[in-house]
Amino acid sequence: MPDDSAPAKVTVRPAGIEFTAAPGETVMAAALAAGYRWPTICGGLGDCLVCHIEVLEHAERLSEAAESETRAVKELRARSGCPVRLACQAGVHGDVVVFKRGVRMRKRIEQETSDG
Ligand code: FES
Repeated sequence: MPDDSAPAKVTVRPAGIEFTAAPGETVMAAALAAGYRWPTICGGLGDCLVCHIEVLEHAERLSEAAESETRAVKELRARSGCPVRLACQAGVHGDVVVFKRGVRMRKRIEQETSDG
């Protein structure tokens, strides 16, 4: 049983990115706080599904999905074969490993934008 009072490590594959999440903090909020850009259109409202992740290890360490989230990712889950969650809704309660393409360090993107 993970210690729910301690920060947890989120590992994002395939890039191998790692960051820390405070207890109950969502995957996406923790990534943003750590300086990463997380794919989104709705900005974390649970509407766009663009933030969705496949949970490779320890899906049980994420907060329970609300009924609306479960309904929203049903089709994605059927295609994936892995548990699928919305990164903007899934609270972290222990170390997890997820799969998500497009997660990048925010500074690099801002630098590229200002260079171009
Ligand atoms: S950011 Fe849009 S559903 Fe999560």
